[in-house]
Amino acid sequence: MTDFSRRDFARAATAASALSYSRIMGANERVRMGYVGLGNRGDQVHDAFLEHGDQQTVAVCDLQDGYMDFAIGKSRSTPAKYTDYRKLLEAKDVDAVAISTPDHWHALMFVDACKAGKDVYVEKPLSLTVAEGRRMVEVAEQTKRVSQVGIHRRSAQFLKEAADFVREGGIGQVTVARAYHIANQWPTGIGNPRDGPPPSEAEWDRWLGPAPKVPYNRNRAYYNFRWFYNYSGGQLTNFGVHYMDMIRWCLGQDAPQSVTAMGGKYAVKDNREIPDTLEVMWEFAGTPILGKTLVIFSQINANAAPGNAQNSEIELRGTKGTMYIHGTRWEVVPEKVTEMSSYARTPLDRNSEKAYRPSMKPAMEPKSAKGSQDTAHHARNFLDCVKSRAKCTCDIEIGHRSTSATLLGNIAHRNRWFLEWDGKAERFANNEAANKFLSYKYRAPYKLG
Ligand SMILES: NC(=O)c1ccc[n+]([C@@H]2O[C@H](COP(=O)([O-])OP(=O)(O)OC[C@H]3O[C@@H](n4cnc5c(N)ncnc54)[C@H](O)[C@@H]3O)[C@@H](O)[C@H]2O)c1
Repeated sequence: MTDFSRRDFARAATAASALSYSRIMGANERVRMGYVGLGNRGDQVHDAFLEHGDQQTVAVCDLQDGYMDFAIGKSRSTPAKYTDYRKLLEAKDVDAVAISTPDHWHALMFVDACKAGKDVYVEKPLSLTVAEGRRMVEVAEQTKRVSQVGIHRRSAQFLKEAADFVREGGIGQVTVARAYHIANQWPTGIGNPRDGPPPSEAEWDRWLGPAPKVPYNRNRAYYNFRWFYNYSGGQLTNFGVHYMDMIRWCLGQDAPQSVTAMGGKYAVKDNREIPDTLEVMWEFAGTPILGKTLVIFSQINANAAPGNAQNSEIELRGTKGTMYIHGTRWEVVPEKVTEMSSYARTPLDRNSEKAYRPSMKPAMEPKSAKGSQDTAHHARNFLDCVKSRAKCTCDIEIGHRSTSATLLGNIAHRNRWFLEWDGKAERFANNEAANKFLSYKYRAPYKLG
């Protein structure tokens, strides 16, 4: 056997052993689920799955015993408890896992789960770096795992209708898409606690995982990790991934062509690393129908006034109308277009037939829809796909593209760069130094498989 064929054989054997764990499931059969991370979001995700009679909670894993007991209490079964997720992945009675740990753990846990033959529901943002996200896509494909990224808007029918309508030209050419994260956290935000001893050294070490070893600080750990770059990307990746995904869905575009950003910690006095004020801009090349689009994310966290008259989360400004997207509804407000293109420049023109007269005729009919973006719909889609082996509404490639666009924004912001992005190669085209921020070195002994 040559080296090459030996390697091929090993690869095939790995894929076969992963596949051998997948049972072919009947439509009425239960999917046996393991839950990793049962804090704030993990509890919500578990609740969303519990709404479906064809899921069974067979295993739970968290660093907090109390969170596991709380989940077990709801589960109508007797799940096994683990503090080490790798032990949960060894359990043969687990068909699929839901990962709701902090962002810096997603890639390792996802890759290990795929390689253990489990289908995976993983929370957003998909990863901490672009390279991690791409590796997650590769491994999911190699191991033929079903994946669902927790961008739950993708399973909301009324938002699918919105995205299809815009993408097919319903509001005309879309020149600008904007999203807002608005909250006033002035003056003291999350506070400024001192570093101190962790609840236990072992728990803190396991919580940090691949991230650098640093002293324990209450704000770095549970929930507030969002404000620190070693574990997350701030509101740009936290809420921004939901918004970027919705916008990409409407535009029908994989990746931006360029990105730049500005902002900082201007007003809020706490120990967060992320800005309280941030403006990120991306250019998308556009489709023949929609043309080129400027996408803007505004993080305004020291003032809470509405971002636009409609107080929506997302707005898409088309040549024929503007779509405002709220949590549970969207509406299109038509544009009133001019009848003549020439403006009256002289007094004679102004009194002539050629004069500019704004038309009162709307360019389109108003349109709106309501609906729910309940996570239970997203869980339903995952369970269905585990059985049918179809792609989920937000499969790993979609989750990766929406996450990576926001990660690029953080690289631009933190270095004050204007960056050109090659979406095929997933590299920066105009700044070699920027490419080193696409990955980071894990703390030993952690390695992404
Ligand atoms: N889809 C959404 O709308 C949505 C909403 C909120 C949070 N999230 C995402 O969910 C994830 C978790 O956020 P959160 O607010 O629940 O944080 P959290 O801190 O409340 O919960 C995280 C849980 O993971 C556990 N954990 C950490 N390291 C672990 C390890 N090595 N092994 C096992 N368990 C471990 C912690 O004990 C904790 O209970 C984040 O990625 C966040 O972005 C998504």
